[in-house]
Amino acid sequence: MSEPAAPSSPPARPRVLSGIQPTADSFHFGNYLGALRQWVALQEDYDTFFFIADLHAITMGQQDPKVLRSRVRRAVAQLLAMGVDPQRSTMFIQSQVPAHAQLAWVLECITGYGEARRMTQFKDKSAKGGEGQASVGLLTYPILQAADILLYRPEYVPVGEDQRQHLELTRDLAGRFNNRYERTFRLPEPYILKATAKITDLQEPTAKMSKSASSAAGIIELLDDPAVSARKIRSAVTDSGTEVRFDMEHKPGISNLLTIFSSLTGRSVPDLEQAYDGRGYGDFKKDLADAVVDFVTPFRDRTLELLDDVARLDAILRDGEERAAAVAQRTLADVYERVGFMAPSR
Ligand code: TYM
Repeated sequence: MSEPAAPSSPPARPRVLSGIQPTADSFHFGNYLGALRQWVALQEDYDTFFFIADLHAITMGQQDPKVLRSRVRRAVAQLLAMGVDPQRSTMFIQSQVPAHAQLAWVLECITGYGEARRMTQFKDKSAKGGEGQASVGLLTYPILQAADILLYRPEYVPVGEDQRQHLELTRDLAGRFNNRYERTFRLPEPYILKATAKITDLQEPTAKMSKSASSAAGIIELLDDPAVSARKIRSAVTDSGTEVRFDMEHKPGISNLLTIFSSLTGRSVPDLEQAYDGRGYGDFKKDLADAVVDFVTPFRDRTLELLDDVARLDAILRDGEERAAAVAQRTLADVYERVGFMAPSR
């Protein structure tokens, strides 16, 4: 029997999109375990688009332009060092694809003011300096994020738990636009892995590990000196007991460390509980510190090497910009046409 004829082109792989802000010199373990590891894994089966959200990075006040530019490159180098592969994934900088800001405007015009003000992240961040001090950009931040996503019509958006509400708004806006005009956007699903959805602060284990909120001792930065990270693990806050057991409610510190240990080594939490049964926290923390050092040391070396080759980074970004802009521009043209804007003359 003859084989069925092969299709002339392979079926398109479903799409995945996500972004990260360049607001620090280094990503931290929350970013890595909550989202970035999934980015790398999803490249296998999806048409992946990953970008550096530099437009979002100025919503809390201007960064020094030199620092911002350097952080964007550092972010790209870290993604490459982690295993994001520019042959398989489209990597780009948000500000280099103008369709993001253009679609954001249209979506802002179908978002209620109250709806934007109710977003938890806006409430938390604007509460810090008083709402009167917050920028309008901080208010419209989630709408720009919706534009980032909807332009690419992805099936999944891999993120940590803190982004869930923004994904809900994105789906609401997509549905609203589709109803008001005609079906244009796909409603994306959040892709949030339960075990690592919220990595917590080592010093305050009920709070999210975060570049803005955590003290330096509570956060493990991927590009930090590995000896410093090992020390932070050894001095992580734990409860007064001795038992290495996963119990988020009563033992949040140990539970967070178990989560980190398990996801870094691939050993299951019950397996780790058994291995450290009766051995106390000291041994456990020491072994976890070793696992962290084993992970960050080669990662840091690779990142620094990549940062030495700026021409290569820029070539990857130029290619990514072109590929991303082609997709984004098509969606934006549909949107403009449906809203009733005149087609641009060029
Ligand atoms: P950002 O830059 O704050 O964080 C990048 C990713 O890391 C995840 N994350 C965590 N996950 C688990 N535990 C933690 N402690 C932790 N801290 C951070 C975040 O959930 C995120 O997935 N608004 C986004 C950037 C963005 C975006 C987008 C994301 C802009 N446009 C479009 C997806 C799609 C943000 O601030 O991520």
